[in-house]
Amino acid sequence: MTTINDVTELTRDGDVAIITLDSPPVNALSAVVRDGLWEAFNQANKSDADAIVLICAGRTFIAGADITEFGGAAKGKGLNEVQAMMEDAPKPVVAAIHGTALGGGLEVALCAHYRIAVPSAKCGLPEVHLGLLPGAGGTQRLPRIVGAQKALEFMTAGTHVPASACLDMGLIDEMAEEGNLLADAVAFARRLVDEGQPLKKISDNDDKVQADRGNEELFANFRSSKAARKFRGFLAPEAIIQCVEAAVNLPFEKGIAVERKLFGGLVTSSESAAQRHVFFAERQVWKIPDVPRDTPVLPVASVGIIGAGTMGGGIAMNFVNAGVPVTIVETKQEALDRGLGVVRANYERSSRNGRFPIEEVDRRMSMITGSLSLEDLAEVDMVIEAVFENMDVKKDIFGNLDRICKPGAVLATNTSALNIDEIASATTRPESVIGMHFFSPANVMRCLEVVRADHTSLEVINTAMQTAKKIGKLGALVGVCPGFVGNRMLFQRGVQAQAMLDEGAMPWEVDKALYEFGFAMGPFQMSDLAGLDIGWSAEKSNGATIRDRLCELDRRGQKNGAGYYDYDENRTPTPSPVTEEIVREFAAKAGKEPRSFTQEEIIERLVLPMVNEGAKILQENKAIRSSDIDMIWITGYNWPAYRGGPMFYGDQMGMSTVLERLQALQAEHGDFWKPAELIEQLAAEGKTFAQVPASPIAVG
Ligand code: 3HC
Repeated sequence: MTTINDVTELTRDGDVAIITLDSPPVNALSAVVRDGLWEAFNQANKSDADAIVLICAGRTFIAGADITEFGGAAKGKGLNEVQAMMEDAPKPVVAAIHGTALGGGLEVALCAHYRIAVPSAKCGLPEVHLGLLPGAGGTQRLPRIVGAQKALEFMTAGTHVPASACLDMGLIDEMAEEGNLLADAVAFARRLVDEGQPLKKISDNDDKVQADRGNEELFANFRSSKAARKFRGFLAPEAIIQCVEAAVNLPFEKGIAVERKLFGGLVTSSESAAQRHVFFAERQVWKIPDVPRDTPVLPVASVGIIGAGTMGGGIAMNFVNAGVPVTIVETKQEALDRGLGVVRANYERSSRNGRFPIEEVDRRMSMITGSLSLEDLAEVDMVIEAVFENMDVKKDIFGNLDRICKPGAVLATNTSALNIDEIASATTRPESVIGMHFFSPANVMRCLEVVRADHTSLEVINTAMQTAKKIGKLGALVGVCPGFVGNRMLFQRGVQAQAMLDEGAMPWEVDKALYEFGFAMGPFQMSDLAGLDIGWSAEKSNGATIRDRLCELDRRGQKNGAGYYDYDENRTPTPSPVTEEIVREFAAKAGKEPRSFTQEEIIERLVLPMVNEGAKILQENKAIRSSDIDMIWITGYNWPAYRGGPMFYGDQMGMSTVLERLQALQAEHGDFWKPAELIEQLAAEGKTFAQVPASPIAVG
């Protein structure tokens, strides 16, 4: 055995050289890995071995380039040098794949002459999720195996594709027996030698790309396809398409040059920096400084949900989808029937869309038991209360749950704003009480704010977080404060959206700015969608706000064809002259000249208050770290991932710029804009939000 370096070994099984890479956790292609692989292939190539097997130790094959190295100075051997060493080997090279061969990892495997994988392995080029393209030859080699259309789909979706599908596509040549990868890979290598099989270089294989040469329609169709709608604002998908065009129309080396150039542009872009931030933020969010990994998790084998409204039904679906039976409690049969009907209709729609066969609808519905009595929750492991936002009603429910539920049951509330400590005070077991704030629609949105109250036990926190994971949510632990993290920041944005209207901005100008920024819609489109009259009362309305005036004119949003916008029968919005007139009236009353607002001004007025509020949340320790706040906004409000979240946005602006702009706005518009102390402090220290150390949620 030869130890090449700390992570690479070269051994022999008779006539076959075996290169083993062992660089936990995921064998990412860091400088030491590249150096080790290069030297190992160098030696194996020169040795008298007849074939070479590359295999990885630990949980996975190479999971890609080392993302932490992007943006740093280049060190060690280049990946292309390693790949050349493999491709030009004078004997068969076999990549033996288990776990995941992703990104640069798959691109290394594609430089082996042959690939073998266990059935549980997956392959993918997920660079697109990091705002990148497969930049180690992937965009040129993949189309040479699967053709342009499949390559486009594969790389722009960035999914992890199971080994069996990879075998069908020709990405993998041979399946190994699960648990027997090394022996099967060595046997495969020997067979290749014995049979005199050629040293297959994918870069030489032009058949597949020739078939699509000059086929401009293929690319035009892909750019206008349904799948491509998701690309809005992202840079990487278009760059991937251009690379595949190059693969089809240019010789391999020229295609590689195009790939390299476009990769260089992406890797230095703020979009990719933001998406890489999101990659690490998604993993950080689960780490809670004062809840150690080995904190017990209470079993959650059954769940009770109180309230069969939109939220309750959506929450129930999450659990059922994860195989956990649910009891839904309502006060009236009619409300229960209506709620269960909505859940069934949702499942039927999913089935119609091909998500699962129609029989599955009945199976899932059979996991939901409707009830009109809280007493039926006596034996469930977790209760989630999802009734309307009224403190007295919630306290009454929690008092009853305290009496009814078995000891140790988690008692959660889905409140989006109320004080959970007060709700917990209605029980004799505040350690079991926690907030689980789902976002609407609860069966779709990934965000789940897990709200730690003063007395919530560590077990209950850990249980809620692990439950979030189990039902496919992004659980972010936050503290009790009005609106928690997400809505507290949304509120500040809403104040400014309204203030701009009062200054004469048109709702569609504000909405357009946010759409261009990357949100699916702006606040006024959102109000029209939700209904302008939510929380509005005809009796109390006195025309004091623009919304009052609109509601008084029976402009209640999309549902009755008019709100801030006018709607046609297909619910297509157009700017409304009625709204425009009211906005002008309000501006005139406030002594404001009507003027148009620039996109930059609108974004600053909407986003900076969020950054400022986020800073206050952080300084009050109501969030653990700034990237958790970013994740709440990305998964709860569709903040565009390529902008990394509001706190990342603030960091990108630079703390002194954030401070200067807040001070300027404070001078112009008043103390709403007073900068958070944390911003002043970080600006003085030349630091970022990301540099604020993670700290436990403040309680007590
Ligand atoms: N670089 C650096 N660190 C990485 C990494 C990578 N490529 N992939 C994972 N890690 C780290 C994670 O941050 C995490 O660190 P932590 O424990 O400190 O939080 C640790 O490895 C374990 O990762 P996960 O928690 O995600 O482990 P899982 O077992 O759940 O998932 C995985 C494993 C499926 C491999 C997942 O980590 C993953 O998807 N990794 C990224 C894959 C990827 O995007 N590859 C492409 C990279 S870009 C590239 O290759 C460019 C090339 O074309 C030139």
